[in-house]
Amino acid sequence: MMSVLFFSCGEESKQLDMSPYFLETRKGWPDIEIPENNPMTKASVEFGRQLFLDTRLSIDSTISCASCHKAEYGFADSLPLSRGVGNKLGFRNSGSLTNVAYLPYFNRDGGVKTLDRFSLVPIEDHAEMNLNLLEMRDRLLQDKSYVNQAKLIYNRRPDAFAVSRALASYLRTFISDNSPYDRYTYDGDTTALTENQKIGFNIFFGDKAKCSSCHNGINLTNYQFENNGLYGDYIGKDRGRQRVTDNPDDEGRFRVASLRNIALTAPYMHDGSLPDLRSVLDHYSSHGHLHHNKNPNIEQIVITDLDKEYLISFLESLTDLEFIKDRQTNSQSK
Ligand code: HEC
Ligand code: HEC
Repeated sequence: MMSVLFFSCGEESKQLDMSPYFLETRKGWPDIEIPENNPMTKASVEFGRQLFLDTRLSIDSTISCASCHKAEYGFADSLPLSRGVGNKLGFRNSGSLTNVAYLPYFNRDGGVKTLDRFSLVPIEDHAEMNLNLLEMRDRLLQDKSYVNQAKLIYNRRPDAFAVSRALASYLRTFISDNSPYDRYTYDGDTTALTENQKIGFNIFFGDKAKCSSCHNGINLTNYQFENNGLYGDYIGKDRGRQRVTDNPDDEGRFRVASLRNIALTAPYMHDGSLPDLRSVLDHYSSHGHLHHNKNPNIEQIVITDLDKEYLISFLESLTDLEFIKDRQTNSQSK
């Protein structure tokens, strides 16, 4: 009797920190909108962190979110196309989760509208985790700590609602705003960039390279869907935004990529077809392929081989080592 009491008491009294989790961002950056039905608490972020690392979210318990979103690669992975359960080949390059809370829509084709329900996509996707959501719930019900957390935070079982909300809470903390580029741009710290990086900065934001006509704002993206000339035709290929809208004018358009932590997230583009930053710049200087949706600015880009070296230095200044280090410790501590 005593031990039972003690046991159930121990389970219930497992303390969760329900105090609010405040997202700290740079002065002058826009506020991050937190949905009313998913307030961030220290407990919800911690629950999300555990789920992010949990391989039980995949059908054969072999992969977790972190398998394809690794801290050391800026929360992308290093494969051209991601590999899911049973080594199944996905059709896109894994996305970096840096500053994901700022994105107005998700995936490179904008096919998913809310971060709060996003996680259900990879969990159910056959080429990713391939786990039925009811089966997931039944599986997680075996874990007393998860049952306890879902109950106290969401007043639910650890079901699709609770799991996807907690993961969103955790992902919202992935804020990177302290790269050398940030200290130079927002703090006016002129020593934050090397001389080569400053030259690259001016090329990037200059009229000849045209990079900042698409890559601008705090994440170096205007979030528009553009065709940057990667392919001449899309027969048998990923048509990008057209998959969502069914509109031929959207063929080959992808969300302008964020360049945060870009030096860590190789290979590049939606299909990982460009292995390094040098080949990205070679692509832009050659203007890529002709296509009726290609943005005319791509045709106008002028960058020399020397410019490319400076641009690479500049892109390296977008790496936020503090962000990576913090998260690495965070994701290993389980
Ligand atoms: C098998 C590899 C794989 C697994 C496992 C995986 N992802 Fe992803 N993730 C991807 C790929 C590939 C993309 C890019 C998809 C696209 O752009 O269409 C992506 C994109 C995302 C995005 C959108 C990023 C953006 O820029 O719009 C979020 C958020 C995300 N994943 C979160 C998660 C979470 C949370 C989990 C665990 C529940 C998870 N992922 C599991 C491969 C994976
Ligand atoms: C017309 C708009 C536009 C211009 C101009 C442009 N880009 Fe891009 N950029 C994009 C789009 C769209 C993508 C994503 C393409 C994809 O996913 O296949 C992208 C992708 C990238 C990537 C790869 C990101 C990743 O995560 O895979 C890098 C690096 C990049 N651009 C750098 C530059 C640089 C440097 C310049 C200037 C020389 C430039 N871009 C000019 C639209 C543009």
